[in-house]
Amino acid sequence: MQIVSSAAAMQRLAKKWQRAGTRIGFVPTMGYLHAGHISLVHEARRRVGKKGRVVVSIFVNPTQFGPKEDLANYPRDLKRDLQLCRAAGVDAVFTPGDAEIYPGRAEGRYSTYVVEETLSLGMEGVSRPTHFRGVTTVVAKLFNLVLPDVAVFGQKDFQQAAVIQRMVADLNFPLKVVVAPTLRESDGLAMSSRNKYLDPEQRAQATILFHALQAVSAAVKKKTVSAAQLQTDLKEFITAAPLARLDYVEFFDPETLAPVAKVKPGTQMALAVFFGKTRLIDNARL
Ligand code: PAF
Repeated sequence: MQIVSSAAAMQRLAKKWQRAGTRIGFVPTMGYLHAGHISLVHEARRRVGKKGRVVVSIFVNPTQFGPKEDLANYPRDLKRDLQLCRAAGVDAVFTPGDAEIYPGRAEGRYSTYVVEETLSLGMEGVSRPTHFRGVTTVVAKLFNLVLPDVAVFGQKDFQQAAVIQRMVADLNFPLKVVVAPTLRESDGLAMSSRNKYLDPEQRAQATILFHALQAVSAAVKKKTVSAAQLQTDLKEFITAAPLARLDYVEFFDPETLAPVAKVKPGTQMALAVFFGKTRLIDNARL
């Protein structure tokens, strides 16, 4: 497994593979890998085959964190990440520093960003106003360096995947975006690097997100329900976990992400819940 830290070296390697006709599968991450990330690696391998190359990037992207968010404390464990990548059959891990991805930013000389202007406005875009600008910018840059044929993202970040798919279509990136299912702990909690922040009590109550998704799925199987009513009911439902604070719960069309008034099977539901300073998200097609 190759470990590449310079942007130029990553692009050289990708171009070499491209010239040889080798397909490249790519899993962008911020590290602190868990089984959910590894399932994306396996999906990338399935897509490019044994002869293809799978690249994982590990980069805690500063531009997608707001000023009051957890950038400095974001969990990092490169040694363990590299072991997991090696065991999963990754061909190259790209581990750039900030200056490789944002040359001149520390000196105020970086000034180019990619902005998606529709799908990124609701939900996460309301709670984290500069988040998607950072995501689309870094993902576009990583695509230019890794030159993937296939890039795999997790369904847990449903809105992120939709924004990236739109960016890829709008900017003619020559690659396929694959969205792979969310991996869950045995009690239903969606796997996330941020679960590490939860204390034991918060961790026990964090299943409330999954239970909310299940409860609404069951309710809409029986009858169409108004989104406003469900939002009111869910505020009450979440109080069963006294350490939880609901940030948002939204019901929307899975293609356009436009909010719907009536919730029925096929509607997408997403929610964000705080436990102390830790913010967890989850979603499901009802
Ligand atoms: O989903 C993530 O881990 C990040 O948002 C991503 C796509 C790696 C961009 O930094």
